Amino acid sequence: MGLKTIFVLLSILTFSWCSQVPLQSWTEELDTYQVFQSDISPQHSIRIKRQNDTICDAHSVQYTGWLDIGTSHLFFWYFESQHAPKDSPLTLWLTGGPGGSSMLGMMQELGPCLINEHGNGTVFNEYGWNKRSNMIFVDQPAGVGFSYVDEGTPVPDNSFSAASDMGLFLQLFVSQVFPYLLESPFHISGESYGGHYIPALGAQVVRQNALYPSRPRVNLQSVLIGNGLFSFLDSAFGHWSTLCTTLPGVDEPVFNSTRCDILATNLPRCMDLARVCYSHPDPAICQAAGLICWDGVIKYYDSESGKGGRNRFDITAPCDIDDFCYANTALIEEYLNMPHVFEALGVPKKHVKAFNVSSDAIMMAFTLGNDLELSMTPQVQYLLADGIDVLIYQGKLDLACNTQGNIRWSESVPWKGQAEFWAKSFKRWESGGKEVGEFKEVNIQMSEEHKKKTRFAFVTVDKSGHMVPQDQPEVALDLMLRWIEGKSFE
Ligand SMILES: *[C@@H]1O[C@H](CO)[C@@H](O)[C@H](O)[C@H]1NC(C)=O
Ligand SMILES: *[C@@H]1O[C@H](CO)[C@@H](O)[C@H](O)[C@H]1NC(C)=O
Ligand SMILES: *[C@@H]1O[C@H](CO)[C@@H](O)[C@H](O)[C@H]1NC(C)=O
Ligand SMILES: *[C@@H]1O[C@H](CO)[C@@H](O)[C@H](O)[C@H]1NC(C)=O
Repeated sequence: MGLKTIFVLLSILTFSWCSQVPLQSWTEELDTYQVFQSDISPQHSIRIKRQNDTICDAHSVQYTGWLDIGTSHLFFWYFESQHAPKDSPLTLWLTGGPGGSSMLGMMQELGPCLINEHGNGTVFNEYGWNKRSNMIFVDQPAGVGFSYVDEGTPVPDNSFSAASDMGLFLQLFVSQVFPYLLESPFHISGESYGGHYIPALGAQVVRQNALYPSRPRVNLQSVLIGNGLFSFLDSAFGHWSTLCTTLPGVDEPVFNSTRCDILATNLPRCMDLARVCYSHPDPAICQAAGLICWDGVIKYYDSESGKGGRNRFDITAPCDIDDFCYANTALIEEYLNMPHVFEALGVPKKHVKAFNVSSDAIMMAFTLGNDLELSMTPQVQYLLADGIDVLIYQGKLDLACNTQGNIRWSESVPWKGQAEFWAKSFKRWESGGKEVGEFKEVNIQMSEEHKKKTRFAFVTVDKSGHMVPQDQPEVALDLMLRWIEGKSFE
């Protein structure tokens, strides 16, 4: 352990070396950590350090650090917008899992730098999402990626306890560390299990703002979720239409009629049990539902996925490595474990022995915590009721969190805009002069108190799997910018 690390650890333990000087006063060559102690909670502080382009070739001002919450520590990487940071919104990115590191989204999909082909460095990404937004990537919940808990502290086992740590983190970040962000619009983006994390976190932020009006507000405007897992019932239902029709944009269905007949036969029982789990979310019932759906429906594709087999994230693509399928994911893990990367980020080796792109411990905890089989419909209703805009975007070739299942789910959310949304048909949308997918959206005046209408949109992207910014980087950036800048998909 280097002297610098010891110094940082000591300063965190004693709380004596705290500073609340806004970052404008930082010097350019600052390479030690600065600590910001929360005004609100003695348990919360942020340690932060500026990075140059050596580890991530971002061509932007960047910082890394940890939020320390008692015995839990959340890692973040913050990039200023490439254009007018002080007048840009702030967008948070959360990769799914549960247990997936947000470094995956950052270095494989939409960060300002991407992993290179050798896994020993990064390359600048011209389609990085910090083009006109400040971007922050957070490894959460504690236990994921570079985030950690002190020995003896249990890791979070559900999306709601993860969200409560993140809510305080955001408040501290925008009010004390970068006060210019306090007035900026804030958006939460992410994908996959982000379909759980993001509605839970959004609801937490809205609640926190309402409960403590005298504290700094986190200025949440919207959530944007790519190929999200909102409802396992609907995702399971979508298996048939994804594999047995050409709706994903394939020439021939992936499964033959023998297999499709088996799926169709087994689906009603899977749906019945999944509904029982939703109305009685007892772990034993939900696990039984999960098992029946696996055995009758999901296993026909998923048990044939893995290295050299089928790819759950893209029904047309090969699978190069187990679990994630994409070789780049393994390269990210390799790169972030290099000693000079640990050194530059100041990773405490005592607590983070190795960087892992996916945490088995979190996956296990969330499974036992019965989080996976929860439907996030109530949290999405809560966000819409509060005037928070919601974008669901979908790569059409994904099976894991498939488009047909999520269309079904999005039309089933009971709220003031449901009937109008259901009645609309999808239209094609264009990006860069080409047709790239379909969309439909509604803009609803939720109540007289709301100053603006609430926007709910569903946008699909052709020729893309689960990870839209990886498969269609240019379209994904256009989609993200149109959304956060309030422009139409017409
Ligand atoms: C990365 O690996 C390639 C191929 O082995 C090598 O040519 C290159 O110099 C390496 N780059 C760095 C930064 O080590
Ligand atoms: C249908 O597909 C399955 C799985 O790929 C295969 O085992 C089976 O032989 C196929 N049946 C027909 C009639 O082609
Ligand atoms: C970048 O920062 C590292 C420390 O993290 C330092 O060793 C290196 O000299 C810096 N490079 C430049 C170009 O400033
Ligand atoms: C990450 O976790 C997986 C699964 O437990 C394990 O096989 C792999 O070796 C780990 N990677 C590192 C760098 O420790």
